[in-house]
Amino acid sequence: MTTKPMNPSGKLPLRWGGEAARIAVIPGDGIGKEVTPESVKVLRAVAARAKRPLEFVEFDWGADKYLKEGLSLPAGAVEMLRDEFDAILFGALGDPRVPSNQHAADILLGLRFKLDLYVNARPVELLHERLTPLRDRTENDIRFMVFRENTEGLYVGVGGFFKKGTADEIAMQEDVNSRKGVERIIRYAYDYARQNGLKRVCMSDKSNAMTFAHDLWQRVFKEVRQEYPKIESRHLYIDTLAMEMVRDPSQFDVIVTCNLFGDIVSDLGAQLAGGLGLAPSGNIHPGRTSLFEPVHGSAPNIAGKRIANPFGSVLASAMMLDFLGWKEEGQVLREGVKAALRESFVTPDLGGVKQTVEVGDWLASYVERA
Ligand code: NAD
Ligand code: IPM
Ligand code: MN
Repeated sequence: MTTKPMNPSGKLPLRWGGEAARIAVIPGDGIGKEVTPESVKVLRAVAARAKRPLEFVEFDWGADKYLKEGLSLPAGAVEMLRDEFDAILFGALGDPRVPSNQHAADILLGLRFKLDLYVNARPVELLHERLTPLRDRTENDIRFMVFRENTEGLYVGVGGFFKKGTADEIAMQEDVNSRKGVERIIRYAYDYARQNGLKRVCMSDKSNAMTFAHDLWQRVFKEVRQEYPKIESRHLYIDTLAMEMVRDPSQFDVIVTCNLFGDIVSDLGAQLAGGLGLAPSGNIHPGRTSLFEPVHGSAPNIAGKRIANPFGSVLASAMMLDFLGWKEEGQVLREGVKAALRESFVTPDLGGVKQTVEVGDWLASYVERA
């Protein structure tokens, strides 16, 4: 068993380091509307405790607005968020009434792309050993960071149909990888490892099959790794990575991969650490307005039942506080979640009986007492 001196949610680059912060809140759809208010409640308690102002402005962008007004991401929204806010706290988007998922593509992918949030940081951290489905694994075995490229790849929406709706139909979706895009995420992963005293970076791709796009990843990786001789560099094909994450998660400190693979392995990682209800993420461009959200979606199967786990959103809020330079406050939130887990003050997905709002109230009062 190895011990690693890190908190993978911590040490994200700072923008302001200053006193006040302005947060745009986009709860979105489904359980996004249930968990996000709990985070805001807890963040208000954080601000009161720290005696530092935290200002929230809520935006009702999501499926309801899209269905009623045909509006997804309003004109000027990107510039407003970029110029008037320090960070964005985001819930989730996705609604069975919008099968095309168009509003989510416009709003969530739109913000990731247009704000150029090229780092999707998705920490995997086991906060209590009873939560992992793996046998004989403890907190020290499951603690690593997944860096997902967040602005290109198969997500760019380049493609099209030919002879749509006929028996001869063809559908194409292009995997777009730029030299600049690949290099900056790989470099970010190494810099993060170096800044946090982590020894191992694993780049994962499918270059044995994707002989153009991931050939670029291979070549860039081989160049960038030379600049970090003290860090152990490793490559795994994505299928092998998935297997190794389950077989022995303690072998990883930092994983860096493309947009689609990062989406998939972050859910796999989330489950290793107790499930989607607990997993946070940060969509980051160092020095610019960045977006923080739970890894999970809008969970229509439990929406409205008041049982959504708010921890993913709260831990994303902790990442946001780190980003804003409120390090101590971010740590208080993480400690609060750990304390709730120790006391089993948790929602049904974690085996508890508490409701979303009860867990949020508990965390807010933890912060007041901390
Ligand atoms: P999901 O993450 O919404 O749910 C997957 C499973 O995990 C469900 O069983 C759900 O009940 C459970 N779950 C998720 N979060 C939970 C929480 N906080 N507490 C307790 N249980 C939780 O994924 P899905 O069902 O594949 O997708 C539903 C919708 O969400 C789709 O429209 C999808 O496109 C969208 N989605 C959005 C985001 C996002 O906005 N970032 C992320 C993933 C999925
Ligand atoms: C996520 C989600 C999104 C993604 C969807 C909703 C487009 O799964 O944030 O992980 O694939 O990035
Ligand atoms: Mn996902």
